[in-house]
Amino acid sequence: MGFAIMCSGGDAAGMNPAIKRFVEYVDELGYQPWLIYDGLEGLIDDRIEKAKFSDISGIIHRGGTVIRTSRSKRFFEYEWRKVAYDNLMRKGINKLVVLGGDGSFRALNQFYHDFDIPFAGVPSTIDNDIYGTEYCLGVDTALNVIRTSIDEIRDTAYSFKRAFVVEVMGRDCGYLALISALTSGAEALLIPELDYDLVAMEERFRRQLHEGRGYFIAVVAEGVKKSHEMVELFERIGVESRLTVLGHIQRGGSPTVTDRLMAFEFTTAAVDALVAGHVNSVVVYRNGVYDYVTIEEINAQKYQIDPDLLALGAKLTR
Ligand code: F6P
Repeated sequence: MGFAIMCSGGDAAGMNPAIKRFVEYVDELGYQPWLIYDGLEGLIDDRIEKAKFSDISGIIHRGGTVIRTSRSKRFFEYEWRKVAYDNLMRKGINKLVVLGGDGSFRALNQFYHDFDIPFAGVPSTIDNDIYGTEYCLGVDTALNVIRTSIDEIRDTAYSFKRAFVVEVMGRDCGYLALISALTSGAEALLIPELDYDLVAMEERFRRQLHEGRGYFIAVVAEGVKKSHEMVELFERIGVESRLTVLGHIQRGGSPTVTDRLMAFEFTTAAVDALVAGHVNSVVVYRNGVYDYVTIEEINAQKYQIDPDLLALGAKLTR
């Protein structure tokens, strides 16, 4: 049996530890591990190599993915998927582990229905927006990058008595912003999941200024598209204000211990699922346990942030 691993969509810290575990575990079980370079594009273009131990040495601490990733338009077309299938068949690869988000799992599910190639998905996205799992690889590292950045911004905010609006990633999901605001002690938070009241917020800030507050930190999720409005709000109340869009630094960085350990467990469970005969499952983590769900289950609902966390964040939205 040939097992291959690939990444798809946005890279996430934890992918390299997952690749390392995959190669070691598949080899330990007596199967041939393969690496698919450049995601779905590489699958089509036959950039598929037998894994050697030298490929995975010295990668556990590296961010991103050493086998690279891509977003592929061609894979939407049957004829390109057929090319990908032929590539796998020529090499005797009949099981796939995919590190990616729900869009990637949907693509692989289509591939499974076309050609009967089983896959197991490992949720990997800093956005933490996949229904059915409490955790996706890369989230803890991204949160720590944001924490470090906000801690450093705080130094200059205090020194200049300024307000800083920090825009964080997450696509349409406010998880990164919510957790970052709570754990960085931000004064304000805007995320798609929570209603906000900028008039009430302005009043609160005016009051706090009057009581002697010197600087402010506001965390805004990219999905709400309100960063500039927040800057204007601070300017209105007479506080010089700057916008910092953290951008792609949030996707980089050495995987944290949590991401390395989760990568190990997720990947072990993914390989075990394929060995046990699962054909199109995604490994999920909930209530401390690794489990499997189908892509249909994931698609059926939208990811919801824990209501208790949202309730804590709601205090910062008005
Ligand atoms: O899905 C991960 C993510 O980093 C989002 O948070 C962000 O909106 C998007 O990818 C950025 O995409 P790109 O790397 O294509 O600019």
